[in-house]
Amino acid sequence: MNNNQPIGIFDSGIGGLTVANAIKKALPNESIIYFGDTKHLPYGEKSSRAINEYSKKICDFLIKKNCKMIVIACNTASSVAYQNIKESCPDTTIVNVIDPVVRYLSKETNSKKVGIIGTKGTINSGVYSKKIKEKNPNTEVSTLATPLLAPMIEEGFINDTISQTVINNYLENPALKGIEKIILACTHYPLIENIVKKFYNNKVEVIDSASQVANYVLHSLETGNLKSDQQPEYRFYVSDYTDSFEQSAKFFFNENIHLEEVTL
Ligand code: DGL
Repeated sequence: MNNNQPIGIFDSGIGGLTVANAIKKALPNESIIYFGDTKHLPYGEKSSRAINEYSKKICDFLIKKNCKMIVIACNTASSVAYQNIKESCPDTTIVNVIDPVVRYLSKETNSKKVGIIGTKGTINSGVYSKKIKEKNPNTEVSTLATPLLAPMIEEGFINDTISQTVINNYLENPALKGIEKIILACTHYPLIENIVKKFYNNKVEVIDSASQVANYVLHSLETGNLKSDQQPEYRFYVSDYTDSFEQSAKFFFNENIHLEEVTL
């Protein structure tokens, strides 16, 4: 393994660029190859069989591109495909977006009630709850599927009356009553982090997986002595190119980027 090999990152679409951006900030010398499976999004509504199939092909592509590590920057794929990906790519370090959040929570011994919002796929898999309960048996975990949020954010409804109404409606759900922390278990949600914080008047800790994953990747590369010291290169691939994806991508990555279409 060579330190200057790129980090592969994938998501169902462009939402995972929030994770790519957090990794770029934490590790400015790392080259990144990003793959957004825009042809098959949203994963949140797909069967686990389909998500496993897509994820396998994407990982094969990223391995062919010589990635030293693959980050599954999608909560839905992390929930339903992580184990299979790990088994089918034994020579590559695979990072999902759930374990870094669970690890962070387990350092906090005082969480009584934690809320989780995400796609139907993520919430129905029950993976977050199971992993949190394994490490923190005394923590009450309450989950809520919020399927309107990802398409809403992708369409640019982020800070207006529509987004405010949808977000308030979800967060007022009785399932989330009395929570002390809320996990934004979808890669699109860092874009609405401030609105969620405002809803709770900053009295509930809002945990976004993107920054937790970036901290974890930093720690993992440092421990393995695998940090790059070169000038980084970034490539962004999608399975279906549209101008609209390229337009939206800049909000998720925080700068203009060019998307290249590739057929797997
Ligand atoms: N990126 C997905 C996630 O983090 C959300 C979008 C989708 O449903 O594909 O779960």
